[in-house]
Amino acid sequence: MAKELTFSIIKPNAVKKNVMGDIIETFEKNGLKIAAAKLTVISKEKCQEFYAEHKERPFFGELVSFMTSGPVLLMALSGENAVLKNREIMGATDPKKAAVGTIRAIYGDNMGENAVHGSDSITSATREIALFFDKHEICND
Ligand code: RTP
Ligand code: MG
Repeated sequence: MAKELTFSIIKPNAVKKNVMGDIIETFEKNGLKIAAAKLTVISKEKCQEFYAEHKERPFFGELVSFMTSGPVLLMALSGENAVLKNREIMGATDPKKAAVGTIRAIYGDNMGENAVHGSDSITSATREIALFFDKHEICND
């Protein structure tokens, strides 16, 4: 399996809880390496573009409002099978249904405020990383 990149966001509720370090440690212990990172508040316009696939869903407004409510940590993560690996470590979208020990089970508050985002495919990862990082900012040795 080749090394690949995935895109990760530590969401505002997890940043507020001051657990970025714990979440990063989980990534690192599972073989994912930070290739780029930025602590920032996303603009409403950028967030709507990021979540464009959900724009017709009833929760879209709430999702954008939450994701722009405070600082988030944007990251490109590299590793073997990084997209799938990250999805496993994150757990199910709903923290109540996420497997014991996963990031969402530990740090998620509810379906919306579920602590982390992770790309669902290599195609999504490429699009999402390009939305937030310039090519030269990716340290993928
Ligand atoms: P993500 O994109 O954030 O990694 O999460 P995901 O693939 O597991 O879930 P997705 O279906 O892509 O949904 C994106 C985010 O929208 C919020 N959501 N709220 N209230 C609801 O029913 C609902 N459903 C989804 C979650 O924050 C989810 O992570
Ligand atoms: Mg998704």
